[in-house]
Amino acid sequence: MKGIVLAGGTGSRLYPSTRSISKHLFPVYDKPMFYYPLSVLMTAGIREVLVVSNPDGLPLIQRVLGDGSALGMDIRYAVQTEPRGIAEALVIGRDHISGHRSALVLGDNMFHGEGLDGHLNRAASSTSGCTLFGCKVSDPRSYAVAGFGEGGAFTSLEEKPAAPKSDYAVAGLYFYDQDVVDIAMEVEPSGRGELEITDVNRAYLERGRAEFVTMANEVMWLDLGTEESLLEGGRYVSTMARDSGVRVACLEEIALRMGFIGVEECHRLGAEMANSPYGEYVMEAARRAAGLQQGAGV
Ligand code: G1P
Repeated sequence: MKGIVLAGGTGSRLYPSTRSISKHLFPVYDKPMFYYPLSVLMTAGIREVLVVSNPDGLPLIQRVLGDGSALGMDIRYAVQTEPRGIAEALVIGRDHISGHRSALVLGDNMFHGEGLDGHLNRAASSTSGCTLFGCKVSDPRSYAVAGFGEGGAFTSLEEKPAAPKSDYAVAGLYFYDQDVVDIAMEVEPSGRGELEITDVNRAYLERGRAEFVTMANEVMWLDLGTEESLLEGGRYVSTMARDSGVRVACLEEIALRMGFIGVEECHRLGAEMANSPYGEYVMEAARRAAGLQQGAGV
C-alpha cells in the first residue's frame, strides 16, 4: 500500500504567519505539523510515501525527511505548483499509486487516541472501494459532510454545505483501492476552480463502494489550519507529554514500533537531537525497547 501526504495550499487562513513559510513546517508543540499526518500513514503500515507540496514548502520538508531511509521508509516528493485542490494530489501522484491501494492524508490533519490503530488497520486491509472517516463536530460547515438515510445508511456527501445534513465531518484521511487514479482523472474543477476530493469520494459512493467509518469518540481529530486549532493541537500534545509521558506522532518511535528500524537506528536518531527533550524521548524509547527485547530473551 502506498501513501500520499498533501501539504499544499496557501495557508491563507493563517496569514500573516504563512506569508513566508508553509504552515506544514510550523511547530505543533515539539515537532513540525507534517509529522502528525505522516505518523498516521506509518501507523497504517505504509512505508512508501509521496509528499506533495508547493514549490516553497517542498524543499523544507525534504530537508527534514530526506529519502526517508533513516526511518526505514521510502519518501519521495512532487510539486503542486498551484493550489488546484486535494484531488490533484492523486493526479500528481498517479505514477506512485497506480496499481496499488493507497491512503491520502492532508498535511494539516492530526489524529490521536485509543482506537485509532484499529481503524487504520481495518482501512488498510480493506481491498475494495474507499474508506472515509467521520468525526462529530459542532460546526460542520467548513468540512465535507456526510448524510445518512434509513437505518443509518451512508447516502450523501457535500463539500462545505451551508445547511449540513448531519454533524459528521469527513476527516482528511482517505483509503482507496486501485481505481482511484482513474476516478480522480475524471473529476472536473469545481466552482472554486479546485479538483475536489469530495467529488472523488462521491464517485465511490455512487458506485456503492464507499465505506463511512465513524471515528471512536476517544480519537482526537483536528484540522490544524486555523489559529485556534493550531494552539489547541499544541496544547493537546503538550498535555499528553506531561500527563501520560507520550509524545504524539514521534516518527522515530513509530518506525521502531512498526519494525521499520531497529533499536540502534532509533537510538542514533535520538542522539542526533540529544539536546532537545524530543531527542531524549527518542533515545529513551530505544532503550525501553532494547530492555524489553532483553527481557524477552531476544
Ligand atoms: C478539506 C476538504 C474537506 C475535509 C477537510 C478536513 O477542507 O476539502 O472535505 O472535510 O479538509 O480537514 P479544507 O481544510 O481544505 O478547507
